[in-house]
Amino acid sequence: MQASIFGVGHWAPERRLTNQDLEKMVDTNDEWITTRTGIKERRILEEEKGVSHMCVRAGRQALERAGIGPDTIELIIVATVTPDMPVPATAALAQRELGAGACWGFDINGGCAGFLCALAVGAQFIESGRHRHVLVIGADKMSAVLDYTDRNTCVLFGDAAGAVVLGPDPTDETGIEDFRMRLDGEGAAFLYMTGGGSLHPATRETVDQRMHFVRQDGRTVFKKAVNGMTGASSDLLADNGVSPADLRLLIPHQANLRIIDAVSKKLGLREDQVMVNIEKYGNTTAATIPMAMSEAWEEKRMRRGDRLLLSAFGAGFTWGSLLLTWGMEGPGDSGGIKDL
Ligand code: UT7
Repeated sequence: MQASIFGVGHWAPERRLTNQDLEKMVDTNDEWITTRTGIKERRILEEEKGVSHMCVRAGRQALERAGIGPDTIELIIVATVTPDMPVPATAALAQRELGAGACWGFDINGGCAGFLCALAVGAQFIESGRHRHVLVIGADKMSAVLDYTDRNTCVLFGDAAGAVVLGPDPTDETGIEDFRMRLDGEGAAFLYMTGGGSLHPATRETVDQRMHFVRQDGRTVFKKAVNGMTGASSDLLADNGVSPADLRLLIPHQANLRIIDAVSKKLGLREDQVMVNIEKYGNTTAATIPMAMSEAWEEKRMRRGDRLLLSAFGAGFTWGSLLLTWGMEGPGDSGGIKDL
């Protein structure tokens, strides 16, 4: 039995941080940010709120669209690199606020590929027949780990959450077909936040040395991301006998418009086959793919039975691609798990 997506949702804070706002904060300009990244603005969560606040709102919308209540969820997986706190897991905080009942759950740290990791894991529990309803959330409050004096990073990221409800499709016509995920720890030197873990617990020195902020070697990450996402996607399509022309949509991680364009071109995809919303949100790390998926569904860019390819690259390095057949009816149409 394949694991299919029966509900999708997203949530982003109201407050916008535009390129013009950033011009007043660091030595940058709208022209540089737009041409180098495609980003125009990003959303920023209130300081006193944690990532679970966004998880709950995206999760609720996904559940509503799936037509099920929180009490029927058996497993909650949250992909994030910015949990509310190191302990307990954000999944626990989301469970409490969602009012989910007899379920279990945990967090996954897969960087910008976290949502794909979580989706691949969640799907196994449906395929095995162990669970019927799994809530998978990708969310990050990147503003909490950004150095707003570092123009190399602070212009790139934003805050948001996206979520999907996974369930079995008894017809086996839709669902997650296959995935290719990879991990290469050599990437640890190029994208990291060293402070606050067991190696460098928070001290006055780690704060003084600004070790609680995310850093990256952008050029290296850029090249690896293009090659990694293209390679995983090509292998996945070839192994499943799917040609790029068969795809309704590529929903890529939104880190840089130039990365998305390069990957799409290498795969031979037309512009209308690629979902892009980076201009509105920037890189929201684990949230980009479920956010873009939710907006694509709202814009009626895919229907039940359409083939989708998801692809992401991030810290670790962790990267990969996932192939699925979309299971939800369009907005306004009847659908949801209960109708099957
Ligand atoms: O989600 C997974 C993790 N992240 C990524 O996938 C990001 C991958 N990398 C990238 O998206 C790009 O490498 C960046 C957007 C981060 C940077 O773009 P780039 O074209 O690779 O620029 P660069 O790092 O080679 O820098 C070019 C110049 C440098 O100046 P010099 O040395 O040529 O004088 C930078 O100092 O641009 C400068 N620069 C900026 N200028 C204005 C860097 N950041 C900025 C900025 N505004 N915000």
